[in-house]
Amino acid sequence: MGYSSLKLDKFLISMHNARMSHAQQAQISGFCFVRAYAKINLTLDILGRRADGYHDLATVMQTVDLYDTLCLTATSDDRVSLICTTPELSNNENLAVRAAQLVRQRFALRQGIGIELYKRIPIAAGLGGGSSDAAAVLLALQQWWQLPFSSSDLLNMAATLGSDVPFFLTGGPALCEGRGERVTTLAPYWPPSMRWLLLLKPAISVSTAAVFRSLPASDYTDGTYGTHSRAVCAAFDARSTPRLEDLHNGLERSVLETYPEVARARKDLLDAGASFVQLSGSGPTLFAPFSELFCARRVQEHMQAQGYDVYLSRAIHPDAGNVCFF
Ligand code: C5P
Repeated sequence: MGYSSLKLDKFLISMHNARMSHAQQAQISGFCFVRAYAKINLTLDILGRRADGYHDLATVMQTVDLYDTLCLTATSDDRVSLICTTPELSNNENLAVRAAQLVRQRFALRQGIGIELYKRIPIAAGLGGGSSDAAAVLLALQQWWQLPFSSSDLLNMAATLGSDVPFFLTGGPALCEGRGERVTTLAPYWPPSMRWLLLLKPAISVSTAAVFRSLPASDYTDGTYGTHSRAVCAAFDARSTPRLEDLHNGLERSVLETYPEVARARKDLLDAGASFVQLSGSGPTLFAPFSELFCARRVQEHMQAQGYDVYLSRAIHPDAGNVCFF
């Protein structure tokens, strides 16, 4: 980040120089913007159900350039408040608010924060929007307030907020294991055949918990023969295009069976000219890769004419420039 912006903030300098405890801090001023990118799951291997009710996973995720914008403003009260362009998300249960509260608790801070959230990522869609918003708040506050988090502090806080939140601290491509919180960043390779991505969001919401709860063990990946995720990691490592049969989502069969709207959208995308379509996460968003912009755009227009919500996107590596201080 550009530390010059922090020179403006006399408080932060005094905090460092006088080694003032974070709990003693006075007013922080100003505001900052941060982008929170969506993700898709190239693979999602379900390995088994755990005693704590979660599932052990192996999943390769990639950040894409569909993003929410958050504006964090220092306020003179001691509250965290949120206003979101999607009104039903303007509440204290929102993961962005919970992330800010967690940081305040961790450092015994009373500084108030107002969060404005410009939502573009569809909600409950399998694109990780809520998790990404939470990670964006953690990263923005760490940089803005110069908080002495170790990377394991940050990971632990992220994992407390949700299984996908640790992934968004770094973005993809990454292999996520365990509950999703063990993140291994992969070499930044992306197959040319997947240069452009259509993200189609059927007009329903899907509960991740409900999808996992009803998943039969026959949909688990048998790890003895290696996972689809490992095969995709090996392909990326060799800078080669993964085999289509390794782009596998263990939740897809069940979601297509349970939600006919998703199965219909998948068929419509294939009929419109997509050569490959897969569910992202627990859905209902489907992604379809294209090597050429022209083809992607033609299919997008075709699907939009049928009334579908379709985003033309691409893989992206988020960087520190995502946070912008004023
Ligand atoms: O961790 P997060 O709150 O995002 O997960 C939402 C729900 O998805 C969990 O309550 C759980 O039912 C299910 N889940 C799971 N195994 C995972 C991740 C999520 O069963 N690895």
